[in-house]
Amino acid sequence: MKALVYQGTRDVRVMEMPDAKIERPTDVLVRITATNICGSDLHMYEGRTDMESGRILGHENLGEVVEVGNAVDRIKVGDRVCLPFNIGCGFCKNCERGLTGFCLIANPGFAGAAYGFAGMGPYSGGQAEYLRVPYADFNCLKLPPDAEEKENDYVMLSDVFPTGYHATELAGVRPGETVVIYGAGPVGLMAAHSAAIKGASKIMVVDSHKDRLALAEKVGAIAIDDSDGSCVEQILELTKGKGADRGCECVGFQCYDHHHHEVPNLTMNNLVKTVRASGGIGVVGVFIAEDPGAKDKLAKQGQLAFDFGQFWMKGQHIATGQANVKAYNRQLRDLIEAGKANPSFIVSHELSLDQALQLPRPPAPHLNIKFLARTVG
Ligand SMILES: NC(=O)c1ccc[n+]([C@@H]2O[C@H](COP(=O)([O-])OP(=O)(O)OC[C@H]3O[C@@H](n4cnc5c(N)ncnc54)[C@H](O)[C@@H]3O)[C@@H](O)[C@H]2O)c1
Ligand SMILES: [Zn+2]
Ligand SMILES: [Zn+2]
Repeated sequence: MKALVYQGTRDVRVMEMPDAKIERPTDVLVRITATNICGSDLHMYEGRTDMESGRILGHENLGEVVEVGNAVDRIKVGDRVCLPFNIGCGFCKNCERGLTGFCLIANPGFAGAAYGFAGMGPYSGGQAEYLRVPYADFNCLKLPPDAEEKENDYVMLSDVFPTGYHATELAGVRPGETVVIYGAGPVGLMAAHSAAIKGASKIMVVDSHKDRLALAEKVGAIAIDDSDGSCVEQILELTKGKGADRGCECVGFQCYDHHHHEVPNLTMNNLVKTVRASGGIGVVGVFIAEDPGAKDKLAKQGQLAFDFGQFWMKGQHIATGQANVKAYNRQLRDLIEAGKANPSFIVSHELSLDQALQLPRPPAPHLNIKFLARTVG
């Protein structure tokens, strides 16, 4: 089968790979019809993780079931399914509690497994013609009859829509509250969409990419253009000097300042400054345990100079981590089916797997805005 294979820093290729196949009786085989490129793929692409070369990328997957293992009960050939990027077993202590991002079985020795992802187990990704789905009865989200028509919406259930929603859950967003979101990439935009669905009274989205900020405005958010480094002042002005009730980090460890220099603690410390005393902060942007590629000595060891004193004095709370996609994907699917959510508004490019390398190359980390692409298998 054809697949997009990671070869090393900034080197990915579309090539022939052995066909994905059923390996255990609880697996199904899915023919991929849509998959996305994620900001997490970029951390790998840019050589900032320990991703092994020769692995197939792609953890945001949707397709049609073409074969089922002998022990699969609920899922049938022909079902259209969306796969959470996390692989859960369904029966470990964490999966039973709904914490499928921290499955204790699927990636032995580590809490959490995913397709085509550094450090998340040996599973191949879905930027390929076919994908093996383990523990398929548990992991497959069946899609409604409008699955093909709304494929660009439903594919966002694999990761970014539940992840954006998770950011608002971690921050504790409730109806009527004000929210500040750092990052207007797919995840930040989905956090904005989720905050709007939850009835937030004011949503502020910070980034320096004007076309991404325009998308944030489309879902009712106020765009905070940080190209001059003034986001903190702008947010404080919009919140009468108090800060927002809730804040979401949707950028991660490669965040940068307005000179485009990487400053790994910038968004975290800006959150402390721009969330009110006793407010909540949800961090879904990825921070990694070791980052040998970092310029900063602390960041190399996965550490940040965090304004803990101010955080403590303000009595804020913080929650972090991978999104437990299965905790939200059914409800979000039903919102899409009912026409009350339309996450496909972030799609910028649609291309076939063969065209994957024709995406515009980023001129510098995160300067590109065009990898919201969707590869159609
Ligand atoms: N927790 C999870 O389960 C989960 C799931 C998916 C993605 N992620 C992570 O979420 C993060 C965002 O993903 P994405 O796909 O939206 O990435 P992305 O790279 O497309 O978007 C990040 C955006 O942040 C902006 N940015 C950079 N520095 C900033 C700053 N100082 N202030 C405000 N904005 C800034 C960039 O301009 C960019 O538009 C990544 O770290 C990704 O790995 C986490
Ligand atoms: Zn992703
Ligand atoms: Zn589990």
